[in-house]
Amino acid sequence: MVSTKFLWGAASAAYQVEGAWQADGKGLSNWDLYTNVYRATETVTGKHETGNVAINAYDRAQYLQDIALMRELGINCYRFSLSWARILPDGVGRVNEAGIAHYQQFVVDLLEAGIEPIVTLYHWDLPRALDDRGGWQNRESVGWFRNYASVVREALGAKVSKFITFNEPFIDLFLIEPMIENIKSGVGSPFAITDAQYGHQAMALHHWLVASAETIGDFRAAGYRGEIGVALPLMPTIPENPGKSEDIKAAALADAVINRWCLDALFKGRYPIEVMTLFRQLSPEFAPFEADFAILAANKPDFLGVNFYAPAFVRQADSAPLGYDWMNTNPDPEPAAFNGPVRPDYLRRLLERIRDEYDNPAIYITENGAGFGPSDEVMDGDTVHDPRRANYIRRHIEAALKAKENGVDLRGYMVWSLFDNFEWLHGYGRRFGLVHVDFDTQKRTPKRSFDTYRDIVANGGVTVPG
Ligand code: NOJ
Repeated sequence: MVSTKFLWGAASAAYQVEGAWQADGKGLSNWDLYTNVYRATETVTGKHETGNVAINAYDRAQYLQDIALMRELGINCYRFSLSWARILPDGVGRVNEAGIAHYQQFVVDLLEAGIEPIVTLYHWDLPRALDDRGGWQNRESVGWFRNYASVVREALGAKVSKFITFNEPFIDLFLIEPMIENIKSGVGSPFAITDAQYGHQAMALHHWLVASAETIGDFRAAGYRGEIGVALPLMPTIPENPGKSEDIKAAALADAVINRWCLDALFKGRYPIEVMTLFRQLSPEFAPFEADFAILAANKPDFLGVNFYAPAFVRQADSAPLGYDWMNTNPDPEPAAFNGPVRPDYLRRLLERIRDEYDNPAIYITENGAGFGPSDEVMDGDTVHDPRRANYIRRHIEAALKAKENGVDLRGYMVWSLFDNFEWLHGYGRRFGLVHVDFDTQKRTPKRSFDTYRDIVANGGVTVPG
């Protein structure tokens, strides 16, 4: 079942693309509430936007056209996530057969087009019923997730050869969810995240990691023949002022929290000492975890999914959580990329570091991509000029393939994203797609970066200057 060809693909997530928020017996999710009830995007962007329709990817007539575009692009895999609330409307208990049937059909349609489905189980949308029970703070979440994952395995496991348990723990739990909490409380800036919130979220991250390991164990025990891994947001940290000891210390701490915490958990079955000390101070429940560490150590992932956008310049900043700031430090001139400084060589270095420090695991780049705002989305008739995105993608693929040449066990590359879509708290204002979407009409228009990526894929990864 496991193939050895290099995978070229694109990635997406259910809430960002599906729409159909109340179709076919789907339950409500946390994001349905964040957007419709708390109007979360409005606080951040001034515009009230939701994923209720998104890019209509739930609709079969629409997604068949989208698959036709994937074929045109020449990709051989597509990463997407499942909406847990479509499958188990209450999070646990009753299974919604219509939700299962939808994903089974989608998988069959992809396979018929020669495209391997890569399924993320959790990309940030939790059934509302579980959110009401404390969500990931509640240790019972481990059991909820295992149950959901086993329903999915039984429904899709025979046809899907790669699963990803969780997407981007750090970004969801330490950035987005605390911002939502601040929006709900209505006090201060959504970005004013505190140490106390970090302390609280540390337990949620612990539960994700245990749930992921237990699920990996369950898949193996059930005889699943494919591969199962985790997708992490990895950001090499660079002291903003390399001559300043405070920034050097801050960058080291940020590295422990953002990168090493999850990497050590997945591949070494423990947490870095700095993480143990720091979060023990912030949360009395944090540790000891010996029994849980044994679970992590016994259930390592088959592969690591690397989501890479940018390194982070880090400065000491007393007002920021844990005393460091990495979000307001991008030195690039405008228009800067939404997700940080463009430094492709840090992707190569990151991959080589993982090779050296984590015993050369199998790696897929499960996300890489960029948006630069309206000046890089220029519509000219039916052509969308986005030279910065095209350049970004080309340079990052070159860097990744260089790492592969240098011995990294790199097995695939997925661009974020094939289509413009709903960018969480930034709504529809941040476009990352290779294909432009008119959100009013759902019209798809491939951008110039689509041609760039198509040519790279057709050349087996050889990029041409442009
Ligand atoms: C990472 C997330 O996984 C994805 O959902 C998001 O849209 C992209 N980064 C772009 O910010």
